Amino acid sequence: MQIQGTIALVTGADRGIGKAFAVALLERGAAKVYAGVRDVATVSDVYPRLVPVQLDVTDTDRVAAVARDLDDVQLVVNNAGIARPATPLSAELNAARAELEVNCLSLIATTQAFAPTLAANGGGAFVNVPSVGSWIASPTLSTYTASKSAAWNYTNSARVELKHQGTHVVGVHVGFVDTNLTAALDLDKIAPAAAALDAVEAGEPEAIVDELSRQVKASLYDDQHTLYPQIEHDFAAPAGSPT
Ligand SMILES: NC(=O)c1ccc[n+]([C@@H]2O[C@H](COP(=O)([O-])OP(=O)(O)OC[C@H]3O[C@@H](n4cnc5c(N)ncnc54)[C@H](OP(=O)(O)O)[C@@H]3O)[C@@H](O)[C@H]2O)c1
Repeated sequence: MQIQGTIALVTGADRGIGKAFAVALLERGAAKVYAGVRDVATVSDVYPRLVPVQLDVTDTDRVAAVARDLDDVQLVVNNAGIARPATPLSAELNAARAELEVNCLSLIATTQAFAPTLAANGGGAFVNVPSVGSWIASPTLSTYTASKSAAWNYTNSARVELKHQGTHVVGVHVGFVDTNLTAALDLDKIAPAAAALDAVEAGEPEAIVDELSRQVKASLYDDQHTLYPQIEHDFAAPAGSPT
């Protein structure tokens, strides 16, 4: 599908990757972008075609109501996400539940709520943002990456079923993007919105945005031998210590 003239909804569009998605959609000629946000006051009024919509993605009734109201949507960017850094042994169950709720279960809710709308509007597309963390564990983001693996797997199932109604599903995989989520990480960071929208327009199933994501996916067959020794080493070495 082409972005030009399309009507999109972006969840978590007030900042970070979601805001970048909203701006990229407008710059590519989207007719209207609904900014799904928890607090509508956070949405800039600089862009006349950006329309704030109150949406907490964990509120299933609200997700269903928004899907009924926004019956012109053709593209949904499921971007909202949270990370609660924790090791496997220190992770608090309530924090892990919250990650699963936002990063995976809300994806199921928005997919089910908006699938009929997208079908009625010619098929359209979902863009989900599972991250490179869906393919590789991180001992310090253990429950976050687990939630992203679940989101990736659901994304793949959804793509198969939604194909029957002409709806395309793109999974976006990227390592580190410069947002609040990664503010504490001193690493090279990259912006994924352009590559993700390219994948939508090209009908590609995945946007594998950066070299890290490409390397990790290419290494999955032997990841326990090729990837995890370095992760074990990094986990054992306190930050800043000689390696
Ligand atoms: N940053 C990275 O390096 C990176 C890499 C790969 C994938 N990702 C994924 O990309 C997505 C965006 O990440 P980001 O880096 O832009 O994070 P961010 O700067 O922390 O922004 C997170 C966004 O999600 C929204 N959100 C959180 N819980 C929500 C809820 N219950 N309902 C509605 N919105 C909610 C936030 O809204 P509030 O302002 O109301 O909190 C905010 O707009 C996430 O799914 C993340 O996992 C990020």
